[in-house]
Amino acid sequence: MIELQGLTKRYGDKTAVDHLTFTVRPGVVTGFLGPNGAGKSTTMRMMLGLDSPSGGDVRIDGRHYAQLSEPLKHIGALLDAKSIHGGRTAYNHLLCIAQSNRIPRHRVDEVLETVGLTAVARKRSKGFSLGMGQRLGIAAALLGDPEILMFDEPVNGLDPEGIHWIRNLMKGLAAQGRTVFVSSHLMSEMALTAEHLIVIGRGRLLADTSMADFIERNSRSYVRLRTPQPERLKDVLSAAGHTVVTTGDGAFEVTGVEAAQLGELAAQHQLVLHELSPMRASLEEAFMQLTAESVEYHAHGTVAPVGGPVAAGAHLAPVPQGQPGQPGQPGQPEQQPQWGAQWRNPGSGKGR
Ligand SMILES: Nc1ncnc2c1ncn2[C@@H]1O[C@H](COP(=O)(O)OP(=O)(O)O)[C@@H](O)[C@H]1O
Ligand SMILES: [Mg+2]
Repeated sequence: MIELQGLTKRYGDKTAVDHLTFTVRPGVVTGFLGPNGAGKSTTMRMMLGLDSPSGGDVRIDGRHYAQLSEPLKHIGALLDAKSIHGGRTAYNHLLCIAQSNRIPRHRVDEVLETVGLTAVARKRSKGFSLGMGQRLGIAAALLGDPEILMFDEPVNGLDPEGIHWIRNLMKGLAAQGRTVFVSSHLMSEMALTAEHLIVIGRGRLLADTSMADFIERNSRSYVRLRTPQPERLKDVLSAAGHTVVTTGDGAFEVTGVEAAQLGELAAQHQLVLHELSPMRASLEEAFMQLTAESVEYHAHGTVAPVGGPVAAGAHLAPVPQGQPGQPGQPGQPEQQPQWGAQWRNPGSGKGR
């Protein structure tokens, strides 16, 4: 368990972490989400005693990191995959850590096996790819067989196979009852990995919620219709008491009603439909709205996507078939995120 109580860090007049209070519990993967510069890494450094708080407190299993007699047996962390002596082999890197922490040598072989680096164990780490470096960092985190694991943006720069592997590893560790705390700036990544979610922006806590609740609260669903008879359809929908929003590409959006019901209604009035799609707003968009005020770095230009300008609702993706109401299921790593475009028109944001 990791407990933060009003944790604060100031660098000069900049408040990087601002009175954070939350608890990271065992048995689930807790996602730590926030835009770049939100204060995730600073928070993690304070958890490990690498940065001292300007205020508040953070405890690992009830104690400050420095009070833990054998810290690697309580908490293992990957903060920066590049902080390795490049001239050392993977094996020797881990052996150094093991020997200075009273961890038996056989753990080195075990963790190398777990992360899939056995074949390159005797190679110097300076020749390692980013993905191999991440794996070596994870091996070091696992070395003391700790109950708490912490990873700072572990999927950055990884290929899909590596991302898939890390996700499953984290879920497996949580399923063993361990506390797993992982940061990311991508909502889509968190939705596939985490069961619980802590969202911060500009150092402040914005949300502390289960992923299921976050999805429930933030996924607006509606039906998209297109017809060659727009005026008539609009009249019929309005007469039936539905509020119709016209999108930039001439389609209609109707909220609060099932697609089937709208299909029936159109058939009753012998209206031709070219599209009848149940839609769901992307979680990425919900996250961006939540953090819009707290994003540090904004692009100010307008980016046009390949194939034309962004229509209102371009960030919206159809609900996957067979899973009504489920935009990407946490707990199923194989599934691709269901929200389409991951970017938005920066000019439309609320930020600076
Ligand atoms: N050592 C430092 N000195 C001064 N400012 C820092 C330092 N470390 C981080 N910051 C600032 O604190 C804020 C939070 O940074 P960081 O914790 O790295 O965010 P994140 O990991 O969420 O991207 C940023 O504005 C960053 O520039
Ligand atoms: Mg960071």
